[in-house]
Amino acid sequence: MSNSEEDRRRKYEEALEIKSLRRIISAFLNYPEAAEEDLKRYERSFRRLSQADKALLSHLPEKYQRMRRCISRNTFFIFEMLKAFDPPLDISQDPDICKQDPQNVSNNTKETNHCSCVPASSRKEFHPEGGEASVNATGELNVTTSPPPDWLDPSLQMRVPLVDVDKVRCIIRNIVRDWAAEGQKERDQCYKPILEELELQFPNRSKESPPSCLVPGAGLGRLALDISCLGFASQGNEFSYYMMICSSFILNQTERANEWTIHPWIHSNCNSLSDNDQLRPILIPDIHPASAGITEGFSMCGGDFVEVYGDASQVGAWDAVVTCFFLDTAHNITRYIEIISRILRDGGVWINLGPLLYHFADLYSQDDEMSIELSLEDVKKVAVHYGFQLEKEKTIETTYTANPRSMMQTIEKGISLDGGRDLLKSRILFRPCFQLLVTGYCVDGRSLLFIFC
Ligand SMILES: C[S@@+](CC[C@H](N)C(=O)[O-])C[C@H]1O[C@@H](n2cnc3c(N)ncnc32)[C@H](O)[C@@H]1O
Repeated sequence: MSNSEEDRRRKYEEALEIKSLRRIISAFLNYPEAAEEDLKRYERSFRRLSQADKALLSHLPEKYQRMRRCISRNTFFIFEMLKAFDPPLDISQDPDICKQDPQNVSNNTKETNHCSCVPASSRKEFHPEGGEASVNATGELNVTTSPPPDWLDPSLQMRVPLVDVDKVRCIIRNIVRDWAAEGQKERDQCYKPILEELELQFPNRSKESPPSCLVPGAGLGRLALDISCLGFASQGNEFSYYMMICSSFILNQTERANEWTIHPWIHSNCNSLSDNDQLRPILIPDIHPASAGITEGFSMCGGDFVEVYGDASQVGAWDAVVTCFFLDTAHNITRYIEIISRILRDGGVWINLGPLLYHFADLYSQDDEMSIELSLEDVKKVAVHYGFQLEKEKTIETTYTANPRSMMQTIEKGISLDGGRDLLKSRILFRPCFQLLVTGYCVDGRSLLFIFC
């Protein structure tokens, strides 16, 4: 490719990324308006009740007012988070991507821009020791603590589809999984078995030369942080700006445990045991990340796993790779497995936990997106082909971003697999080194029994 073609391609990719970022920022900024629209809908429905039913449910208007206060508090948190975000590109102008020639853009770029979370193609590392002071969110609502950056000017805000605002609501629920005391049970189900396996596999860790561990699809970063605290040089990798903006804020900007208050469960009126349950506040983060005892070398790396770790510089670079609820995010799971195999050093360990609920399955989009959806049996076959040998297999029941007080719980049933690895490079013979914990999937529920007499 000539220099000018390369340049044009780079500019086009940059323009796409700026557009994505502006859309994501707008989704965060649209959060209060979208929530207010929901509230107005609830109020309209309430007004359509008969007088008798209105009298029976006379507390509902007050509930909607309480919800407004919860939304203000969530908005306050979101706004403080955005103010702390340092965009990797100048997003103050809306680029005209039509001026660029899309023919010159690789398929790979097109593919990532159709993903359910808009990816960050640039690499950016976050370090928990950095950052400025932030202010307590339990203070006055709608208080702003420092002037917002130019790119947060309301004139730049676009109206985005509701599906984008839904992603913001997802992030708020994800915060409970990773950074609230209420998420501890779920973390014990999902992260603890992984941490225990890491302990078993690397019993003699030294502070001076800690084993390295990569966590692709790290979400909001808690697992990567816990692995770091266990004595690993840990790196989380994540391609969604929604996730990265939030994890960066919690990892870099938090001053103390329980600094912020959010109301994660307000956006669903279904399966609540009581209004108080639905509106309850959650304090975050449950720990202060910077004083949690991280090991030197902890970082979060933004970018698509395939792009970043498919690079030749990554071959044999990692002692361990941990994938948690990540494998099924692939368009092509065999490529993920191939890369994991390539980046592990000889004798390295891969630990996986999660379902095979392929993210691109059943997407009836017009784009004919690639989605290779393998059974567990075939996943194991591909892993063996790429030099892995199964060491352990266990079944684990987990939830994913579940509201622990909801009447409805989605349980993900897990199997874990045990094996040793035929080394790709026969030079060194190490202990067996591959665990695959793979979950099946089922939906369960808790029902209530009423007895009237
Ligand atoms: C289901 S979530 C799991 C997050 C976290 N591991 C957990 O257990 O809570 C999958 C994560 O992988 C990220 N992801 C998906 N495809 C990715 C890719 N190609 N490169 C990097 N991250 C990716 C998503 O943005 C999302 O945060």
